[in-house]
Amino acid sequence: MSEYFAFYNGEIVKEDSIKISIRSKAFNYGLGCFEGIRAYWNEEKNQLYVFRLREHYERLLQSCKTLYINIPYSVEQLCDATVELLRKNNFKTTVYIRPVAYKSSEKLSPSLYDDENSFLIYCQPLERFIEKEAFRVCISSWRRISDNMIPARTKPTGGYLNSALASMEATLNGYDEAIFLTDDGKVCEGPGENIFIYKNGKLITPPASDNILEGITRDMVIKIAKNELNIPVEERSISRTELYAADEVFFTGTAMEVAPVVEIDRRIIGSGEPSKVALEIRNYLMNAAMGNIEKYMDMCTRVY
Ligand SMILES: Cc1ncc(COP(=O)(O)O)c(C=O)c1O
Repeated sequence: MSEYFAFYNGEIVKEDSIKISIRSKAFNYGLGCFEGIRAYWNEEKNQLYVFRLREHYERLLQSCKTLYINIPYSVEQLCDATVELLRKNNFKTTVYIRPVAYKSSEKLSPSLYDDENSFLIYCQPLERFIEKEAFRVCISSWRRISDNMIPARTKPTGGYLNSALASMEATLNGYDEAIFLTDDGKVCEGPGENIFIYKNGKLITPPASDNILEGITRDMVIKIAKNELNIPVEERSISRTELYAADEVFFTGTAMEVAPVVEIDRRIIGSGEPSKVALEIRNYLMNAAMGNIEKYMDMCTRVY
């Protein structure tokens, strides 16, 4: 049972009233795409700020275009619907927002051709995604799906089976999270987050061409490192052993925010303490997302 309101095909309704067919192609074949967005509650300002709302919907519409999922909304309309939904739920806490665009057709084939598409947004309070200050991770035996299998620049519902298998393997083997390599053995990303290494005063992160999702947090971390902390950032392929030899390693993502990695494949990373650079970047990022940094206020959408 959910006590929240959701946006469903153009209307705000009680989440519990939404019924999705067991025959829908989204359910049967994973034909959909989604976003993950956060809104941060700022107690001092008595305000809820949605962080980089436009960019998330630009990416969703790009996913929809690539996957032939046609939804009848512009970025502006999606932003407005989200703000209205948050108001309706009267959230006064940090919130996770999940828009999903999907094939609602009930025909048997997994074809994308027939044009019955649906769109919904649901949301819930979410402070920390995982209550951990430091992550012990492994390289997954599962390879990241490559761009010629499922488009890497989308967030496709079905593609997350790849993520789930890697996370499950990591958990069963006693680790907190997994790192994917690409088919040709380059470091790619986590199941739901991008990765950075810090070595000799420089941040390095895999390029978009290495099958990563181009993370909005990744983009923000690059901005903060370059513009605020004066740390050079290189976007280039990373080899597996560069991970073990890094001074610091961390994950970035909307849900995970900035998460220091202290161990990979039972090898201690750097000093074994949570990465100082990651913590500094996280601190800056949280302040920007909470509407405390004037320069980045245009990235924060006011709800109230
Ligand atoms: C596979 C994958 N990589 C990276 C990210 C991080 O992206 P963002 O920072 O936009 O949340 C996510 C989360 O959406 C993801 O699912």
